[in-house]
Amino acid sequence: MGKLKNDVAKVLFTREEIAEKVKSLANQLKSAYEGKNPLILCILKGSLIFTADLVRELDFPCTIDFMQVSSYGQGAKSSGQLKVKKDMDTDINGRDVIIVEDILDTGVTLSNLVPELERRGAKSVALCVFLNKEARRRVDIKADYVGYDIENEFVIGYGLDYDEKYRNLPYIGVLKREVYEK
Ligand code: PRP
Repeated sequence: MGKLKNDVAKVLFTREEIAEKVKSLANQLKSAYEGKNPLILCILKGSLIFTADLVRELDFPCTIDFMQVSSYGQGAKSSGQLKVKKDMDTDINGRDVIIVEDILDTGVTLSNLVPELERRGAKSVALCVFLNKEARRRVDIKADYVGYDIENEFVIGYGLDYDEKYRNLPYIGVLKREVYEK
């Protein structure tokens, strides 16, 4: 196995650009959530790195917790049901929750997760996504805070994987076609 960078067709966002974007998202969150002690909900695994960077730019109290979810029963028509693989242990009744995601793609995952958090009594639920791939959307859902809108390309790095690889790439790149077509 060679270096990760050998599989990158092009760099979409550099480390430096990512850091600036994270700061700008954090600034938006500051004005909306300072004094509310929000729960920052990191959706594993892809959002791990974005969450770690984002919370270190927030200078007010917040709680951090984790969930790992997917959707099952996704047919051509149905958008599926939420499958909780790992749950958080925070009681979110009455809390302001900010879901932090690396990418909003078809929207199926979040469209199933938001109602579950509301069912648990969240006072508010907001979506903060680093990447938004509108072209792939299957359900009507919009993020409240978006880092970048991107084209329908196979992106990796900064938490995003292909076959559990490339999450530790410190920038966001497009994966070479030959890697996933072989
Ligand atoms: C990715 C991503 C989101 C979801 C978005 O997670 O982190 O959770 O897919 O896709 P959607 O909008 O089409 O529902 P994935 O299930 O690949 O798990 P991972 O974060 O562990 O890689």
